[in-house]
Amino acid sequence: MRAAWYERNGAAREVLEVGDMPVAEPTRGEVRVRMATSGVNPSDVKGRRGRPLTAPRIIPHSDGAGTIDAVGPGVEARRVGERVWLWNAQWKRPFGTAAEYVVLPQEQAVRLPENIDFAAGACLGIPALTALHSVRLHGDIAGRTILVTGAGSAVGHYAVQFAKARGARVIGTASDQKSAHARQAGADFVIDYRGKDVARVVKELTGGVGAAGVIDMDFTGTAPLIGDGIVAPHGLVVSYGSNVAGPIPLSFPAMLWGSLTLKVFVVYELRPEERRAAIGELTGMLAAGRLRHSIGLRLPLAEVAAAHEAVEAGKVVGNVVIDVA
Ligand SMILES: NC(=O)c1ccc[n+]([C@@H]2O[C@H](COP(=O)([O-])OP(=O)(O)OC[C@H]3O[C@@H](n4cnc5c(N)ncnc54)[C@H](OP(=O)(O)O)[C@@H]3O)[C@@H](O)[C@H]2O)c1
Repeated sequence: MRAAWYERNGAAREVLEVGDMPVAEPTRGEVRVRMATSGVNPSDVKGRRGRPLTAPRIIPHSDGAGTIDAVGPGVEARRVGERVWLWNAQWKRPFGTAAEYVVLPQEQAVRLPENIDFAAGACLGIPALTALHSVRLHGDIAGRTILVTGAGSAVGHYAVQFAKARGARVIGTASDQKSAHARQAGADFVIDYRGKDVARVVKELTGGVGAAGVIDMDFTGTAPLIGDGIVAPHGLVVSYGSNVAGPIPLSFPAMLWGSLTLKVFVVYELRPEERRAAIGELTGMLAAGRLRHSIGLRLPLAEVAAAHEAVEAGKVVGNVVIDVA
């Protein structure tokens, strides 16, 4: 099979190779998926660049979609031919979706509703599930104001849609380049985080009280805003990312006097019941055609290095997807 891989950390063009590898057989409880698409996320790029390799060769990418073409013992034979999307394909496993075939535990291959194409299927494992879990953590948000930072990013674009679907009023932050994208997702207001005083505008838009909740993709940028009073008393901040690795100062008095809660999570490590619940809700919304998917760039597998560079550059509006087939 054709596959892309790396065997050491480094720049995309220096370490990513495309070549032939043997096709594996599924063992007990596993399915083999003939991949159509492979989604590229910032985590895949960070892993290639600097996370210690857990095997001599890594086929990158956790997200992707395709069709089950073989099943191992213990898996219902009727799953052969099922269209699926994958989660965690390259999390704590060496061989991810940047290949013509992936073998993985059957629960990591989720039925893709007929109305959803394989490109959109490659955006569900990380962007959509991260966004949906972030929104679910906020509970009932109908009529409440939620601030979504990076509302034009891959995760943020879905987070805005999920929050709006639950009846929230959404304030997003985005650069001028991505502000239209955030509005298209349904954001009621978009603040140019590069040019505007975000804390002042959020307070203006909330009668001085602050947002009831925050869904945050860059805690380095958001922590100082918490100190500036962007979160209403008893508010919840859910953060899933930071532009800078390492410790981030946070105002304890702001957290204390606001009785605020901070929840941080990584989508790879959702508890089984959290993942089941999120997948159930996501499947319903997909089947009902209630989500917009945004593919900003599609490239063939041979151009995997260019796909990584595009994610690194951060200029693409929408997800970066590789056509494997
Ligand atoms: N914890 C988890 O499980 C999890 C899951 C998914 C992603 N993440 C992390 O979350 C982050 C975003 O992921 P993604 O896939 O959505 O990335 P993405 O689509 O590549 O979005 C990144 C874009 O967000 C915008 N941005 C950056 N900093 C911002 C800030 N402080 N405020 C507002 N917008 C900002 C920038 O665009 P503009 O400046 O042009 O607007 C940037 O190009 C990454 O760090 C990723 O590793 C974590």
